[in-house]
Amino acid sequence: MTRKRVAILISGRGSNMAALIEAASARNYPAEIALVVSNRAAAKGLELANSRSIATATIDHVAYKSREQFEAELTKQLSAAKIEIICLAGFMRILTASFVKQWEGRLLNIHPSLLPAFKGIDTHVRALDAGVKVHGCSVHFVVPELDSGPIVMQAAVPVLEGDDEEELAMRVLAAEHRIYSEALRLLAEGKLTIEGERVVVAGANGDPDRALVSPRI
Ligand code: GRF
Repeated sequence: MTRKRVAILISGRGSNMAALIEAASARNYPAEIALVVSNRAAAKGLELANSRSIATATIDHVAYKSREQFEAELTKQLSAAKIEIICLAGFMRILTASFVKQWEGRLLNIHPSLLPAFKGIDTHVRALDAGVKVHGCSVHFVVPELDSGPIVMQAAVPVLEGDDEEELAMRVLAAEHRIYSEALRLLAEGKLTIEGERVVVAGANGDPDRALVSPRI
């Protein structure tokens, strides 16, 4: 099995990065984390990647005059590491349409909501304010429009009575950690086909009788 070479782009804590590194440490996982790139030198995730002996690079966006120049350096690092797939994991920079197009079908992101609901930031507060009873997270292919793009996998969690932003965020985060590595596995195994707005997942099945009911009384 040749493993796909993956770069993870981060800006901060890196808990999704850690979950991907953990999954990829299994011998039969079809991808290896070959590079972690941060746009912030202080990103906590860098320490963790280093401690797992994963190659890291910091490309401080402040040092570049334009997004194009920042991305030129990024592209250089990605090619040097022979990267085939990119996973955004809490990467807080907008990528240009041209960069995104170059990586079409090979660029994943994880977003803390059940897309297309709650695109953008502060998703948990907005979910609480909206009074939804089910919230969650989505792994999707990146397209130029923010938090859009064909959805690969989603996980739903209940919103519980009395939840605050932090409690809800933690419940969603645990689900994020679970689905990101599964989505990357499917991509690395070549099981995903993009058909318009939809991702067709080869061999996928689900339990049609299992609904997440929230609240439970
Ligand atoms: C996650 O909630 C992710 O969905 C969002 O940013 C957060 C990053 O957290 N895109 P971490 O850095 O992976 O811990």
